[in-house]
Amino acid sequence: MPDLQKLLPPPMRRPPKPGHPGGNGAPPAGDGAVTDGAPASPKTDDPGRRLTTGVKDSPADLVGWVDERMGGASFLTAMLMRKVPKGTNWFYTLGSATLFAFVVQAVTGVFLAMYYTPSPVEAYASITHLTNDVFLGEFVRGMHKWGASVMVILVFVHMARTFFFGAYKYPRELNWVIGVVLLILTMVMGFTGYLLPFDQRSYWATIVGVNINGTGPIVGPYLSDFLRAGPEFGATTLARFYAIHMLLVPGAIIALIGAHLYLVVKLGTTAPPWLRADRKPKDARSQPVDAFAGGSYGSGDGSAK
Ligand code: HEM
Repeated sequence: MPDLQKLLPPPMRRPPKPGHPGGNGAPPAGDGAVTDGAPASPKTDDPGRRLTTGVKDSPADLVGWVDERMGGASFLTAMLMRKVPKGTNWFYTLGSATLFAFVVQAVTGVFLAMYYTPSPVEAYASITHLTNDVFLGEFVRGMHKWGASVMVILVFVHMARTFFFGAYKYPRELNWVIGVVLLILTMVMGFTGYLLPFDQRSYWATIVGVNINGTGPIVGPYLSDFLRAGPEFGATTLARFYAIHMLLVPGAIIALIGAHLYLVVKLGTTAPPWLRADRKPKDARSQPVDAFAGGSYGSGDGSAK
């Protein structure tokens, strides 16, 4: 088992125990540590070496400086150094992959927003200019466009993983519900973004989409009126889609991802179902076992439900 302390930068490591002056918390060589009158080691005397050590340690020193004032190290260590169940595999990376896709969308979206004009008269021309004239414009636009599909696919596959591993059960139901809202918001991002190029296809496809929304029970007509900014597509519809696409929904997604990850850290991840089935008490082994029942917080009484 590797020493996790060694993976942390020196300022975030636990201080050495009394009687162990070196330990993991020892100050890094070359930082001017007092050596009780002993001759300084030739290593620390060498100015070249001192410079390289200083350069290597400075990011960690900066982390330590910020931590002393903000106290984020305990959060970071809880987040990065948490224990994961035995049998954790590549399927568990799908949530992080979705998060990465979202970050790519956010970064590329900021660059697109620098050139995009959300007015019915200028939108199409601003997108054409971005694609044809701006340095790497077509590339960034392509990343954003394909990234949207990648994110939708990843959200679904991640959801399938949590479903088939039984990770939606007690006590993670709330995280599942937050996930469902994230899924809906991801699709709202795709829907509202589709109108923005304002070409024939995006215009007519959005009219069809908004009309479909309007057929929903009770809230449907109100929802489509809200999306259109009135009973008909008008000059403000595009501005409304743009505001929803770049402010409202991303803000909600960021807040919900924060809550989602908080719950992942707080509750831990679910062990794979085939390992959980193995963990039944010996006397229950002869009973038929439903691989999806129970879990680390599930029916821990060993009963095969
Ligand atoms: C923007 C979309 C999403 C992001 C960025 C995201 C991110 C993550 C991450 C990083 C994890 C921890 C690692 C892992 O288990 O993969 C996780 C866990 C989880 N996610 Fe998501 N997720 C999203 C959408 C969803 C959706 C749509 C659902 C289900 C409807 C969902 C349900 C869960 C559950 C239940 C867990 C706990 C898994 C466990 O305990 O093993 N998430 N999510």
